[in-house]
Amino acid sequence: MKVTKAIFPVAGLGTRFLPVTKAQPKEMLPVVDKPLIQYAVEEAYAAGVRQMIFVTGRHKRPIEDHFDMTFELEVALEKSGQRELLEVVRNVKPDDMECIYVRQAQALGLGHAVMCGQRLVGNDPFAVLLADDLMVGTKPVLAQMVELFSEWRVSILAVQEVPAEHTCRYGIVAGTPISDQLLDVNRIVEKPAPEVAPSRLGVAGRYILTPGIFNEIASQPRGVGGEIQLTDGIAGLLRREKVLAYRYQGRRYDCGSKEGFLQANVELALAHPQIGPGFRDYLRTLDI
Ligand code: G1P
Repeated sequence: MKVTKAIFPVAGLGTRFLPVTKAQPKEMLPVVDKPLIQYAVEEAYAAGVRQMIFVTGRHKRPIEDHFDMTFELEVALEKSGQRELLEVVRNVKPDDMECIYVRQAQALGLGHAVMCGQRLVGNDPFAVLLADDLMVGTKPVLAQMVELFSEWRVSILAVQEVPAEHTCRYGIVAGTPISDQLLDVNRIVEKPAPEVAPSRLGVAGRYILTPGIFNEIASQPRGVGGEIQLTDGIAGLLRREKVLAYRYQGRRYDCGSKEGFLQANVELALAHPQIGPGFRDYLRTLDI
């Protein structure tokens, strides 16, 4: 019951980020020096995941190219003796990591994207990571969840407290507390208005799911926005299986929004070992 597979739904149109996403995937937007998708893949790898399943769409080729070998570049860096850069390039895809791409021909929703990975996942538990949500934790957030999974062996959703006026942006959960950080979920609703939200605990883009989720998604009608929602599948799942909500330790940047993306860039630049100190000095010179 180890989590070795992860689904990355990356077929979205990125409309919140137009015009920059007109001809390039939002998952390739850089935070300091790495594209968003690489942060999510590194987080999954650090949690023990080795099979990365990307659910892609048209215009998403740069993601495949990024995780492919760049032969000419490697030869050039080797020839010019730039060993450090060569390592940076090679480490994007360690040898024991497998990348698989399936296409989601129509953008029918997150639940539908997860269904596209069903044949590859088979009968194993798996993770879902939404690259828009950039998570930074002393211990990577998915690794925290994998550890919990090895103890509980049930589906686990990463959650955080959100402002009341933002419940309409998240899947919102309610349930019975097990400890300060764990909740036995008995309700989950996709993007409720604040007045009807069952709590203020919003799902962040990290999930560990049991394969039972596939039948549940398949039997749900279209949900919010006319889309096949993962949240509705989870609502079905928790009638049959235990589902836990976990208040993760770490910081989430909503890189699907311009503000969150800029915050991630500033804070990760400040924390960057090479450019951090100089960048801090620069920010201090700003008259703001
Ligand atoms: C999706 C999910 C939502 C979750 C959110 C986290 O929404 O549907 O339940 O809370 O991701 O980022 P989206 O942001 O794709 O609209």
